[in-house]
Amino acid sequence: MPGFELFDQKEIDALADVIKRKVVHRYSFQGVREGIYRVAEFEDAFAKRVGAKYALGVSSGSAALYVGLKALGIGPGDEIITSAFTFIASIEAILECGAVPVLGDIDESLNLDPTSVESLITDRTKAIMPVHMFGAAADMDAFREICDLHGLYLIEDACQAVGATYKGKACGGLGMWGAFSFDPYKVITVGEGGMIFTDDEELYKKMEYYHDHGHIHNASIERGAEGKACLGFNFRMSELQGALGLVQLSKLDLAIESQKKNKRKILEAIGDVEGVSLRDLPDRDGEIASHLVLILPDGDAAKRFKKACIDAGAGCSILSDNTWHYAKHWVTLREGKYYSRTRCPFDCPYAEDMPLYRPIEWTQTDEILTRSVMFPIDVVVDDARIERLVSAINAGIKAAL
Ligand SMILES: Cc1ncc(COP(=O)(O)O)c(C=O)c1O
Repeated sequence: MPGFELFDQKEIDALADVIKRKVVHRYSFQGVREGIYRVAEFEDAFAKRVGAKYALGVSSGSAALYVGLKALGIGPGDEIITSAFTFIASIEAILECGAVPVLGDIDESLNLDPTSVESLITDRTKAIMPVHMFGAAADMDAFREICDLHGLYLIEDACQAVGATYKGKACGGLGMWGAFSFDPYKVITVGEGGMIFTDDEELYKKMEYYHDHGHIHNASIERGAEGKACLGFNFRMSELQGALGLVQLSKLDLAIESQKKNKRKILEAIGDVEGVSLRDLPDRDGEIASHLVLILPDGDAAKRFKKACIDAGAGCSILSDNTWHYAKHWVTLREGKYYSRTRCPFDCPYAEDMPLYRPIEWTQTDEILTRSVMFPIDVVVDDARIERLVSAINAGIKAAL
C-alpha cells in the first residue's frame, strides 16, 4: 500500500543531492540553485501523467483540497456535497472555508452514490466532490451529468487514488480540479505532500498565489520584490519533497503493478463464492488495488468473518468500525469543536440548514459498511504471506456463510 516500501538508494541520493546543494526552497535562491527546481520538475512530470495542463505541489493532500476550494472562492453560505465515507480532511477543507459539507450516502462501489446526491442539492450548493476511496474511481460520468445539469463544479478528492484511472483518464484530471496526497500511507509518498491539477489557467494562478502568501512568482527578480495578488498562506512544497517525489513517481507503475498482482493472486485463490462480492466499481481495471474489500450478506456474517480471520492469524476490519473514514464516528464534526469563539459555518449567519451529522444519518452507507470487510494490499508481499491471508479469508468465508 504505501510507497515507502520501495524506498532505496535512489531516494537517498535524491535527498542527499538537495542537501548538498543547500537549496530547499522551491522559489528564490536563484543565484545558487544552478537552474534546478525539483518541485517544478515534479509538477511537470505529474501534470503530463495526469493529462492536466497545470499541477501545483503543496504541503499535504488536505492543503490541496483547501487551496483548491479557496481558489474557487468557496466561503460562508456555500455548500459542497461529498461522501460520508472519506477521510475527515475532505470535510475539514470545506469547513476551513466556512462552507457547509453535505454528506451523501455511498453505494456498493464504496464511493459517493450519484443517486443520493440530487436530493442534497440546494441553491447554496457550489460543487460536488466525489472521493475515489481506496484507489478506485467514483462514477464520474454520472456526477458530470448532475453537475452540468445544475451548474455545479465537479471536483475530485483523489487523495487515495494516485495512479488510478477512470475509463482511460487519470483520476485527479477528471474535474475542475483534482487533489492528490503523498502522505506516508499513499502509494507514493514524499513524507507529507500533495498536488492539485487543473486545466483552467486562471484557477491555477489563484491556487499558485494563494498557496504562497499571494506571491506573483517571478524567477527573474528577488522574491522580496515580487508583487502580491492576494492574501494567502503557506502551503508550499519544499525541494526535498520535490526531489523525493520525482523518484517515487518513477516507481508508481511498479507499485501499482505489484499491488494488482498481489490482489489478483488472492482473488484467484479464493475464487468466486456465492454470497461474497467485490466493490461494484464503474472501472475495475483502473483501480490501483491498494485494498481488498469483500462485501458479505449482512453484518453478522461480517462479524463471524472477522473473528475467524483473526483466529486464523490475519487482521481484518469491518468498515463500519472505521473511525478514520466513516462520518458516523466523527464526534468533533457533530459537536462543531473549534478553538475559536465563533464557529463558522456552525454558528454562521450565512449557513442555512446546517446538517446535524448524527450517527443515524447515512442508513444506506451504514448498511453497506457493516457487511464490508477490508484488507490493505502491500506493494511488497511474499508468497507465504499471501497464502496465510488466503487461508484466513477462506476460514472467514466458511464462518460467515
Ligand atoms: C480521501 C482523503 N482526502 C484527503 C486526505 C488528506 O491527505 P493528507 O494526509 O496528505 O493531508 C486523505 C489522507 O489520507 C484522504 O484519504
